[in-house]
Amino acid sequence: MNILAIETSCDETAVSIVRIEGSFGDLSFEVLGNSLLSQVELHREYGGVFPALAKREHAKNLVPILEKVLTEAKMLTPSETPLLSQEQICELKELLSREPELFVQFATILTRVRKPDIDAIAVTAGPGLEPALWVGINFAKALSAIWNIPMVPINHMEGHIVACLIRHREIAPIEFPALALLISGGHTELVKMSEWFSYELIGQTRDDAVGEAFDKVARMMNLPYPGGPEISRLAESAREENLEHVFTLPRPMIDTDDFDFSFSGLKTAVLYLLRETGELSETQQKQLAREFEDAVTDVLIKKTKHILETQDIKTLIIGGGVSANTHLRTTFETLIADYPHTTLFLSPKELTGDNAIMIAGAAALRLQTGKVPPAEDIVANGNLRLH
Ligand code: KG4
Ligand code: ZN
Repeated sequence: MNILAIETSCDETAVSIVRIEGSFGDLSFEVLGNSLLSQVELHREYGGVFPALAKREHAKNLVPILEKVLTEAKMLTPSETPLLSQEQICELKELLSREPELFVQFATILTRVRKPDIDAIAVTAGPGLEPALWVGINFAKALSAIWNIPMVPINHMEGHIVACLIRHREIAPIEFPALALLISGGHTELVKMSEWFSYELIGQTRDDAVGEAFDKVARMMNLPYPGGPEISRLAESAREENLEHVFTLPRPMIDTDDFDFSFSGLKTAVLYLLRETGELSETQQKQLAREFEDAVTDVLIKKTKHILETQDIKTLIIGGGVSANTHLRTTFETLIADYPHTTLFLSPKELTGDNAIMIAGAAALRLQTGKVPPAEDIVANGNLRLH
């Protein structure tokens, strides 16, 4: 079975085509085509993601990216003559009425492409920026209509979970109960799974998400957006150069009995520290970045450890953009060595950030288990929860 996946929840426009074979637990997963266009450079001047710009860029780029991915998958078969009736063109126009630019590209290019060998179209339905999500959803609906292929709506966070299990040509089977620590620009959550697609939220941030805290602190330190990789780079230098510890930041909620987090106090502590210290030297920047990274990691580790100590967890999954952080990865690898009955899954580095392969992966598991959410009227839901 071949799956086409589309991801447009934030500032990455991503499309992929994967082939899955075999059954659940022994699923082969081959990427036939994949392309991702990051808008980071465009959003940088706004210091964060600007939703209207994200929407416009997705609309501009989806058709060329799909063409590229179809070509890579050897599925692009042009037709000399247009393949759609006037009636179908009208339907398309209606479906893409909110994205006129996308409609024009779609009508001129994709109506001359023969139906590819694709069995399902997976699309991110949320959470994320609604205007951005809608572009992907409407695009998926238009493709579904002209090619008569069913759609599979996917939760972006489920995609981040599955990204951790994708290995070379397979989706690794896992043992339950599993615990997922999801850390991204919009989320910080601890989710327990008793089986696939059965989610129990056991902890979450009460204010900022971890990635958001990285980005905001980076901004205060005059570092470019997105701040996570910048802080991570500086912190790594501090570790390599073995710089002295001169700053102390709080570890918010580290000793509370629950599994919730709070990162806005940490951000404020950095603000006060910067006010007091004035402009930082290059060395001080590295030292502050390391202390911030340590503070975040300490809290994430402590809460996760508390669960591993008190509950029977067979699998620990750490996913989302922040899981690209090297220090965090090595600290969790060290932690898990003390828990021989728990297996740690970190996503391959190239799949930590937003991408369409993880959306295809989630769709593959859902299709294989027959647990496909209803697809009749997919809507963008910025706050979609895992359930
Ligand atoms: O999952 P993601 O790509 O997008 C969302 O779904 O939000 O996560 C993006 C977040 C950003 O806040 C970014 O700064 C952070 O992940 N990030 C990192 C690193 N790389 C990306 N945070 C810390 N260290 C990194 N190396
Ligand atoms: Zn994400």
